[in-house]
Amino acid sequence: MISKLEIDRSSVFLVSGGAKGITAQCVIKLAEYYQCKWILLGRSELLEVEPNWAKDCVAAPELKKRIMQDFLAKGEKPKPIEIERLYKKIASSREIEQTLSTLSQLGSKAEYLSVDVTDAIALQNSVAAAVDRLGAITGIIHGAGNLADKLIDKKTEADFEKVYSAKVTGLENLLSCVNLDRLDYLILFSSVAGFFGNAGQTDYALANEILNKSAHLVQQNHPSCRVIAINWGPWDSGMVTPQLKKAFAERNIEVIPLEVGAQMLVNEIEAVEEASTQVLIGSPISSRAEKSTTPLRNYRIRRQLTLEANPFLHDHTIGDRPVLPLTCAASWIGTTCEQLYPGYKFFSLENFKVLKGIVFDGSQPTEFILDIKEVDKTALGEIVFEVILWSEIKNKKAKFFNAFITAVKLKFSLKISTLLLTKTLLFFQIINI
Ligand SMILES: NC(=O)c1ccc[n+]([C@@H]2O[C@H](COP(=O)([O-])OP(=O)(O)OC[C@H]3O[C@@H](n4cnc5c(N)ncnc54)[C@H](OP(=O)(O)O)[C@@H]3O)[C@@H](O)[C@H]2O)c1
Repeated sequence: MISKLEIDRSSVFLVSGGAKGITAQCVIKLAEYYQCKWILLGRSELLEVEPNWAKDCVAAPELKKRIMQDFLAKGEKPKPIEIERLYKKIASSREIEQTLSTLSQLGSKAEYLSVDVTDAIALQNSVAAAVDRLGAITGIIHGAGNLADKLIDKKTEADFEKVYSAKVTGLENLLSCVNLDRLDYLILFSSVAGFFGNAGQTDYALANEILNKSAHLVQQNHPSCRVIAINWGPWDSGMVTPQLKKAFAERNIEVIPLEVGAQMLVNEIEAVEEASTQVLIGSPISSRAEKSTTPLRNYRIRRQLTLEANPFLHDHTIGDRPVLPLTCAASWIGTTCEQLYPGYKFFSLENFKVLKGIVFDGSQPTEFILDIKEVDKTALGEIVFEVILWSEIKNKKAKFFNAFITAVKLKFSLKISTLLLTKTLLFFQIINI
């Protein structure tokens, strides 16, 4: 069991990506519980003053119009991309400012450092200066991340670099700023895409899965540090654009409301008995199941079954005659299907019918036959078999049992529980690995 590590006013959290997006929302929620100190990192600039024409203008279309008017007033003809860039600069600075001001209202001290986490030297220098001002870092939250979603054949090296480096090089660089033996918390914002994979996100999935594995490694080597890789499902915010949200809705993938997700992070940090190094929060990502292109096959498997070789049967009798227990027959059928596909696990047994019990009254056969017919196979790794257990008695086919078995390809064995989260009855899967 992991012992609870106190977070108090002297604790200092270094948070990459912490001034914007979902990480900022999580930091704000944490600050409601713990008035500790925060060093927030992001590449964006925090503008000291906004241009006069931008002041008091909040709506995006109006702000973009004013950006355009400013260019034109200076005799320049801006391209749409330049307007968008300046708009993002102002919007980003406002979001950072808002996060800092909310943290201050909640009684937390916070600083924003404009630095790229992939630049080790720049990061170490700015963090060292902040540590001089705020104190030694006691926790890291690594929330920096980027997307470059497209199918693998369309991806460029630059796409890969952008996605991979913020997560993986970013983590290495953040760890280089602290003494890991003195770190109380390491929280990594990973994604369900790393756990399940997701079309168009090979780079993102790979980078997140490296974060997951890194979490286990750091936890193993530094047991006094509480390490959590949170494999978030999609949120109703941050990098999830309205278009992405629509695509998730089409796949029945629920998004995590801001308040719920942020609270779940607090719950994970507070968890002691149920503490896990890797946690999945949110709807799992699943592709649409497609038919496998491999042909369906049939198998015939023979087995000798005698009373002499299985003396336990004497303990299961009807009248005075030993009878094969149904559980033995079911397990025999299930494990045989499982063994046909190494790496697959028995998942379910349905429509199990007893056509005739196997009774050891002296007239029983010694050879039994399993006829296994594949009836469905999905590209997602699910195989459904119809199985008949039979034998030949007096030159006639005697059927004993009939069942449908499903075997699935599993990466890990999962402990799954559902949590009742809010009054609005939102159910999400929490999987502790
Ligand atoms: N939103 C979701 O649904 C979701 C789901 C699963 C996992 N996650 C993970 O949660 C984290 C936050 O996601 P989000 O939705 O809030 O994303 P977001 O709104 O795009 O924010 C990403 C943050 O990372 C910072 N960042 C990116 N590259 C950086 C770099 N090289 N150096 C320093 N900071 C950098 C960005 O700041 P600058 O732009 O100023 O650099 C920004 O603050 C990500 O790691 C993401 O993979 C999110």
